[in-house]
Amino acid sequence: MINNETFKAVGIIGNPLKQSLSPYLHNYWIKKYNLSSYYLPLPIKSTNHLKVAIKKLNFLGLNITIPYKKSIITELDTVDKGAKKIEAVNTLICINNKLKGFNTDIIGFKKGLLKKKWNKERPVIIFGAGGASEAIIHFLKSEKIKDITVVNRTKKKAKEIAKKYKNIRYSSDFNLDIKEAGLIINTSSLGMIGYPELKIKLNKINKEVVIYDIVYNPINTYLISEAKRQKLEFVTGIDMFVEQARASFEIWFKIKPDVNTTLINNIKKKISKR
Ligand code: ATR
Repeated sequence: MINNETFKAVGIIGNPLKQSLSPYLHNYWIKKYNLSSYYLPLPIKSTNHLKVAIKKLNFLGLNITIPYKKSIITELDTVDKGAKKIEAVNTLICINNKLKGFNTDIIGFKKGLLKKKWNKERPVIIFGAGGASEAIIHFLKSEKIKDITVVNRTKKKAKEIAKKYKNIRYSSDFNLDIKEAGLIINTSSLGMIGYPELKIKLNKINKEVVIYDIVYNPINTYLISEAKRQKLEFVTGIDMFVEQARASFEIWFKIKPDVNTTLINNIKKKISKR
């Protein structure tokens, strides 16, 4: 219930925000746990003066999405160890007038991958070289994965990641040879509502491969549909989406929110309606 005296807003900044179901999910939990808060979509064109705005408007915290996960860091007072390493923040909290950043994307990613068995000796191909890509590479490196290739439209960005994490191949050729891959991950915006599809053919690939598309809106991207057509194992962006949201909610409200099949099905319905 809203109490005007204790009310503190949360929300999401990004551009575009059309695809985001975070407001639906967080507001569901805010209502369920009877908190004096509300989660707002904040489609901003730049992060200038954000620090002042958060403090003046008495926000509890924010999620940060495309394209601000990196640039937000300069606005923060402290950054959690995990987020600092990958230099990407998707959650911030305002405590005692200080902003602290975290990365909960990676928690969500791990939960999704844990559901599938994949051959860790085989190469990993990652499409995209933004904040999400870097978080995942950091995780894969901590899992001692040896053969990683980053594929990105802008080669320079892939090269920068490759340099930072060592022994990583990079390319801007989306038609590279992926036949032997053990894990293929789309971290780019391709496939997301409003963007072109990531059109990768999977008909010649080995059958051990796991396809992971972190895009959740829509669920059935071209990549996921192609994995289904070829009868391959796949993970959709829903797991990662819900788990990153749970972790953010816990940072803000100190409550680990519940996830049940009804909630997941409602999210799926909302996605398919768009
Ligand atoms: P996030 O933090 O979620 O990873 P990001 O840092 O904005 O978001 O990264 C978006 C990724 O999607 C980038 O790899 C971007 O490629 P560029 O580095 O070339 O910009 C990729 N991307 C976005 N739109 C794309 C498009 N139309 N074609 C190919 N890649 C695209």
